[in-house]
This record gives sequence, structure tokens and C-alpha cells, in this order.
Amino acid sequence: MRSAPFTLLLSAFLFAVGCSDSGDGNGGEAGSGGATGGTGGGATTGASGTTTGTGDATTSTGTGDTTTSTGTGDATTSTGNATTGTGDATTGAGGGDGGSDGAGGGASARVPAASASTLREAGEKANPPILIGAAISGGGLGNNDYKRVAAAEHSYVTTENEMKWDSLEPSSGNFSWGSADNIVNWARQNNMKVKGHTLVWHNQLPGWMSSMTGKENVTNAMRRHITQVMGHFKDRIDTWDVVNEAVQTDSDTGVGNPRMRPSVFLNQIGSNYIDLAFQIAREQDPKAKLYYNDYSIDARNEKVEFVYNMVKGMVERGVPIDGVGFQMHIGPPNNEAGGADVAANMKRFTDLGLEVLISEMDINRCGGVVTADEQLAYYHDIVEACFKLPKCTAITFWGINDGRSWLNSWSGALCNGQSSQSLLFNDQYGKKETYNRVMNALLGR
Ligand code: G3I
Repeated sequence: MRSAPFTLLLSAFLFAVGCSDSGDGNGGEAGSGGATGGTGGGATTGASGTTTGTGDATTSTGTGDTTTSTGTGDATTSTGNATTGTGDATTGAGGGDGGSDGAGGGASARVPAASASTLREAGEKANPPILIGAAISGGGLGNNDYKRVAAAEHSYVTTENEMKWDSLEPSSGNFSWGSADNIVNWARQNNMKVKGHTLVWHNQLPGWMSSMTGKENVTNAMRRHITQVMGHFKDRIDTWDVVNEAVQTDSDTGVGNPRMRPSVFLNQIGSNYIDLAFQIAREQDPKAKLYYNDYSIDARNEKVEFVYNMVKGMVERGVPIDGVGFQMHIGPPNNEAGGADVAANMKRFTDLGLEVLISEMDINRCGGVVTADEQLAYYHDIVEACFKLPKCTAITFWGINDGRSWLNSWSGALCNGQSSQSLLFNDQYGKKETYNRVMNALLGR
């Protein structure tokens, strides 16, 4: 287990501060967004705000109690008035929808279902509901057991590789939709939402794109890619990882010299390529949820400080970002993060008016870095941290069964072809103890 005493101390302090309002129902502070597409309009998302809560995209403030929360929000005007409208602080449900689609922030806690027989059901019956997702691969869908478990247990799909640039636009201007369409259509047949992953990323880029030169050329290629991809899936996908992993550190654990990651986008366009990508995506779909997604930003470290400031700057500049995906790859090659640290870290991003998501969770046992007991505790405590935060809107696991995990063959993951034992199902698609711990967290146990 990797942990610096100072980091732990700082995290404990920040957690205490960050959670100080969770019990008394401060609602107005979380009301925000709206002007740029709305991650919750003012006091609409401040479910527990009462008479003094007000909110706008930048200054949302307010207080609340736990009995009479009221409020409306208007995503167009980014204002909310906590004296009118409805909300239910008792259940912690967002009092309104923040305009078109605000995540219910501001409530003190999400209320779990009394019981559930699948993770999906536990997510759907929670108040407010939370999406339970999995990375799905085309290869996996060739297996009936995989399909059965994936659809029964999850309500949200991220394509593992099939929507990456090299898959969708293998040669310049020629788009290949087949493998992505197969997954999206299967998801829709099973009443599952899909997140598009990912529009702009330095990795899995075809050679013609990664070697392109000239600011105008790269800008045009990026614009065309975002526009074509979002256009193709327009009526089927309304949540997108717009920019993925734009920040790097010397270590994959998020430590050492955080900086913008060199890529054809950074090198040719400059650091404002991120703003530009979100602006293009917003032009393409005014209502879609647009996310920044990254790894080893799950608890406080140098990388997440950089990402926090980057995202904060975007919010302040009015860049249309709706949320941040915390990949939550725990263990080698990435970071470790305890539940309390994750909770505090996520909370400060929601205080910017953003949604947060666990977007790619797995916990690698290879190399003995994470013990069996630590893995179980992490699964419970990290899922609980997200679940308790109404503005944490999804928990996605990076695969279904251990045998198909990316970690098994990824250099740095210390598996060398052995199973990473990182997921919730074994290779016979049986539920592991990790599944039980996740279910407990979703049921508030
Ligand atoms: O499709 C080719 C196949 O034709 C070839 O024979 C084979 C030989 O190695 O490679 C296959 O491509 C592999 C691809 O997965 C599809 O299976 C690549 O080598 C392999 O590198 C690639 O790995 C993916 C990795 O992203 C690439 O960065 C993993 O499956 C995928 O799970 C992983 O997902 C990423 C997220 O998108 C972003 N966050 C981190 C996460 C884990 O790395």
C-alpha cells in the first residue's frame, strides 16, 4: 500500500472540512451550472436548501435544513431561488432537474434502495438513481454468459476500445462505425445508456493523425472527428468523454512534475485544444453531458491538483464542461486511494458545480501491492464515497470478468499474463466477494 504520511494527514483534514456540511443539509452551495449546459441549475440541485439558498454558476451559496427543502433552477439563467419549487431533503433527491438534466447535487446524501438483486437494480432504485456501468468489448459480446451478466447487472456501457480514434477513423475522413454500432445497438436493446469514449486522446490514435503537423490541419481534423462521431451517435449517446488523459506526471501514480501531456493536439494547437474540443462538442450537441476523464486523480496527489486547477479554469472561462471522470484504476500501474480521500477529492470538484463519475474502476491484485483485504475494503469504501454524493452520477467498472481485464497483459500492471483478479466476476461469471462489497455499498450497508 502506497501512502505518504503527509498526504494522509492533509487528506484527513480536507475530508473533515469537505464533509462538514453533509450532515446539515447545506443545499445552495452545490447549485451551479446552467449557463453552459447545466450541471444543475442553482438551487434546483440544492435539494435541501430552504429559504436562503441561492445559486448561480459561479457563486452558489445557501443553507438548508433537512425537512422542507424547496427550490427551482433555471439552466438558462443559471439562477435558483430556494424559496420556490420543490425538493426533498429527507430523501436527498435533487429538487428539480437543473434545467434540462442537472445531477441532483446539494442534497446531503443519496438514499439507497431497501433491497436489490442486481447492481443495476440497486442503482436504479436509489434516490437519486445512479448509473452502474461496465466497459464492454465487441469480443465479450460473442459470449452469452458475458452478455447475460453485463445486461443484468449494468445500466450503462462504455465501449472499451471501439469508439477510439483508430477504430472510428482509421484513415483520414473515412469512418468505420460497425464495431461501435454493434455495442451501442446491443446496449439499447437492453435499455442501457452509453457513454462515448473517447473523442480526443493521445493514445490509440492512427498514425496519419498522430503525425499531422500544422495548427490549422490538426484543428480541422479534430473538429471533423468530433463532429462526425457525435453526429453519427447523436440520438443514441448523450454522455461523452471529450478529452481523455491530457495531464501526465513522471509516475503513473500521479506523482512528479505534473504537466500537460505532449500530443499532436498539444504540440500543434497549444493547451487551449482542450477548451476547443469541449466547445466543438457543445456546438454539436447542446444537451450532451461533456466530461474530462483521467487516471490517478482519485485522491489528493500532484496530478489531481493540476487537473483541479485546469478544470476550475475551464469552469471560470465558461468552457462547457459538465463533469470529471475519475478512472479509479487502483493498484499497479496506477494510484491507490482510500474511500475518505476519494470522497473529499470528489466533493471539491462538485463544489465547482460539476458532476463526478467513477469511470473505469478496477483494483489490481498483481504483484501483491494490493492485498485481498485491501481490495475488498477499497471496493466498498470507494463505491460508498461516490454513492453518498448525489452529484456522483455513475460507477463504471472496467470490464466484467477477471480473465478479460486489460491489466492481465498491460506492462506495468505486474501481471505478466496472469489474472489481475481485479473485477467483480470470475471467469465462470460467478459473483466474487468484490461484488458483494460493491452491492453492500450501494445498499448503504
Ligand atoms: O486489436 C489489436 C489486435 O489486432 C492485435 O492483434 C493485438 C496485439 O496486441 O492488439 C489489439 O489491440 C489491443 C487493443 O487493446 C484491443 O484489444 C492493443 O494492443 C491494446 O494496447 C489495447 O489496450 C487497450 C488500452 O486501453 C490501450 O490504451 C485496453 O484494451 C483498454 O482497456 C484500455 O482502456 C484504457 C481507457 O481507454 C482509458 N483509460 C485507461 C484504460 C486502461 O488502459
